[in-house]
Order: sequence, then structure tokens, then C-alpha cells
Amino acid sequence: MSAEPLRERTRTAATAVAHANIALIKYWGKADEGLIIPHTSSLSLTLDDLHTTTSVVFDEALDTDEAALDGRRLAGRALARVRVMLDLVRARAGLDGVSARVRSRNTVPTAAGLASSASGLAALAGAAAAAAGLDLDDRDLSRLARRGSGSAARSVFGGLALWHAGHDDASSYAEPVSSPLRLAIVVIVIDAGPKPVSSREAMRRTVATSPDYPAWVRRSAGDLAEALDAVRTGDLPRLGDVAEANAFGMHGTMLSATPPVRYLTPASLAALRTVWRARRDGLPVWATMDAGPNVKAITSAADAEAVARRLRADLAGVVPETNVIVAHAGPGIQVRRHPAEAR
Ligand code: DP6
Repeated sequence: MSAEPLRERTRTAATAVAHANIALIKYWGKADEGLIIPHTSSLSLTLDDLHTTTSVVFDEALDTDEAALDGRRLAGRALARVRVMLDLVRARAGLDGVSARVRSRNTVPTAAGLASSASGLAALAGAAAAAAGLDLDDRDLSRLARRGSGSAARSVFGGLALWHAGHDDASSYAEPVSSPLRLAIVVIVIDAGPKPVSSREAMRRTVATSPDYPAWVRRSAGDLAEALDAVRTGDLPRLGDVAEANAFGMHGTMLSATPPVRYLTPASLAALRTVWRARRDGLPVWATMDAGPNVKAITSAADAEAVARRLRADLAGVVPETNVIVAHAGPGIQVRRHPAEAR
């Protein structure tokens, strides 16, 4: 708990910038829904220009928590999600009963499978903790961000991040992984609209009903070991192969859930074909997909522009409405405290 008096803390605001991340080895399914402890450890790359900027101030003059995203007031489930994080921070900082004002801007297409919950909940955790006067180290901040959205635990760190599944609140956190690889992700944005089934509901349904889920969890440990070895030795083809297989395994568990969860559309499959054709023609490129129709091509930073050019050219004839974005490795969370703005 902070030693600063309540009045000082309720005048301090904080702003955090957190970047999206894309998992190379996936998190899919919770062993503990409340604490967000996953069944599998996961490995991701934080991206450079897809980010969320969030400011938080705890203000005794407020009657209730207020939150806005890109200028629009949040209500219902979206606001409830913000309040889960605010409540955790309030409890820890001794600010029970003090409401907060939250302002957020996103450069990630929200809820389109482009990891907006990762950057959004990491930025919220960072800004709320700092505004409340808590001084958390990166590991504690990763654990806090995890409580908002599992993948947010990884967005605390730049570059490659490994989220240890752990078995309780203390042992489930992410940490950075160093590598000689310079990776990039070429995002094929097929649909930036919100997804029909939230990833939270989809993973719950998968864990509860897919007969293939336990096998994917068992296999995931081997996938991660292989990916980490490839990352440490700088072996992009090995990393790409295991990442692609792990993502297809995850989507397989969704398809065998009851009722099935199908995020990939005919346009996603067409985009996948362009990735495979580019690889067959010698470009180092592998695909991964998350809880949405978009396809992300894993490649090296040096080849990213050539891969994007090739994908744009091939997609033009097949799925012309796609947008292709090149994202390089990005930084970890940045948090600063500042005086609260006048309302
Ligand atoms: C498919 O982190 O959004 O992107 O913990 O329920 O908020 P909650 O889920 P979330 O799930 C991300 C799942 C994924 C794979 C990944 O990022 O590892």
C-alpha cells in the first residue's frame, strides 16, 4: 500500500502506453476463470505501432467510475471489465470508495482479433496502478494486467514475451525473452469489426466441450519448448513451423467445441493460401490466426516489406478489400504520473 496521503493520491493522474502483442504459441483456455490462470504457457511478440494510450485519475468528487474509449462513453460489459481492474487497484491501494475517470485511445481495431484487449488492459493496469500511487515492478504489473485480460500480461514487455502459466496468482506472469531474431508481423486485416463471439466465451466453451482440448494442451508444452529453442538459436523456419502448427491446433479445438466456434472465414482461408504460396516461392513467412478472421504473417524484419508487397499483390485479385499492415517488434509499457487535468 502507498504511504502517500489519500488527498495527494486522488490528485495524481497517470498515463500509460501499451502495445498489442501477437502470440506465436497461444494462450487458449483458463484453469482458473477468476484469477485468469491459463492451462498453457504462451509466447508472443509485442508490436510497434498498434497501441493503446490510457489515462486514469482517482477523484473523490466523482460519484461513479467513468470510462471512455476513443471519445465514446463505455457502459455495460465494457465498463464492467474496466471496473474489475479499478477494483483490484483500489483494494491494493486503500482507495475503496474513490471513483475513477478513465480515458483511452486505441490505434488497434478494437475486438477484431488484433489484440486490443492486450494493449487496452495492460495500459489500464499501468495507468491505474500509477495513479493510485502503487509502485509495481514489471512482474507485479504483468500479474495485475493478467487479471484484466490474460494476453495483457505479455504486453507489459517489449519484443518477445513468455507468459508462464503458473498455478496461482503469484506464479502466473510474463517476462521478456531475448533472441538474435528480428521478427515482424504482417497483418492481413480482413475485417476490423467486432467479433461475433468474444474470445472469453469461446475459450470457455472450448475448455468445457472440445474433446481435442486436452490433447492440444499436452502438445502445447512441446510446441513452446521447440519455439523457445528456435528463438534462442535464431532459427526462423523452425519457429515459423511450430507457431503455424500451434495456431491451427488451437483453431481445431474451437471447431470441435459444441457449438463450434469458427472465426476463420473464406477470406481468411484465401489469405492463408497467399501466405503459403509466398513461402513455397522462397519467402520466409508463416501464418498465425487468433480470435477473429484476420491472418497474421510471421516473418523477419528484413523481409517484412517484400512479404507485404507480395501479399498485397496476391490478395488484390482474391480479397480486394483487405488492408495489409507491417508491424515490427515494439516496446514495453511506458507509464508516467502527472497532475490531474481540470475537468
Ligand atoms: C487467441 O487475452 O483476449 O489471442 O483472458 O479472456 O481476456 P481473456 O482472453 P484474451 O485471449 C487471447 C487469446 C488469443 C491467443 C493469445 O493471445 O495467446
